[in-house]
Amino acid sequence: MAEGQFEPLIVAFCCNWCAYAGADLAGTSRIQYPTNIRIVRVMCSGRVEPAIVLEALEGGVDGVLIAGCHPGDCHYLEGNYYAELRFKALRELLRLSGLEPGRLRLEWISASEGKKFAQVVSEFVEQLRALGPSPLKPPRPDENLLLRVRAAKLAISSFRLRVLVGRERHLAEVGNVYGEKIPYEELEERVLRDALRAEYERSLILLKLSEKPMSVKALAEELGMDASRVLRHVVVLRARRQVELHGVEGTSPIYRASLEV
Ligand code: FES
Repeated sequence: MAEGQFEPLIVAFCCNWCAYAGADLAGTSRIQYPTNIRIVRVMCSGRVEPAIVLEALEGGVDGVLIAGCHPGDCHYLEGNYYAELRFKALRELLRLSGLEPGRLRLEWISASEGKKFAQVVSEFVEQLRALGPSPLKPPRPDENLLLRVRAAKLAISSFRLRVLVGRERHLAEVGNVYGEKIPYEELEERVLRDALRAEYERSLILLKLSEKPMSVKALAEELGMDASRVLRHVVVLRARRQVELHGVEGTSPIYRASLEV
């Protein structure tokens, strides 16, 4: 470790049956790897809640690694398949929020791959050094980015995304409630991407309205969004009873968040 060099802090969610055992093997085999990593043992990569990943990044860690069994080897059959879907959704939300998606990494590491574990950690440390310290690091995080990452966290916890993320296979192979099958490409490219963007923007609006009541125009200006798009989101949020009318200023309706977020 060179003196004065930035040392990124990494939180690693490791599956008990593979990556965690791989880390153990690296240790018992005395394979050297950087000490920048803090391991959280989970029973399956599919059990890693996306909101927890965003919470770690929100708290200022420089990178998050999710490591699970190789495809086909998951002890719970399809846990790593769902981990991959959530990972893709998280990367997209990071992109929307403005935090570098490269701060999040997914790897498949078996119990016998101690060497690979060490190599992945070393590579990730170098990748994060190239990105530099997290702009969310306390005590002076970038407040605007913090708001956006919080919006991403709120979005991924929303009912709609919790239902949608991970349902691709069902929608592609079994179909929706009307039995209509949606091709994988269309699901990823259009349905999921659109839903992630819409829920992210709605969460941003909710967070802004929980700070103070505002008009659609003021929200659009603060968030740098098109006013007609903001209005459409406000209509949806009112239908969900997450936003309500606060009053009218001149001819502009003023809205506020109905619930604490
Ligand atoms: Fe290891 Fe599911 S048990 S990823």
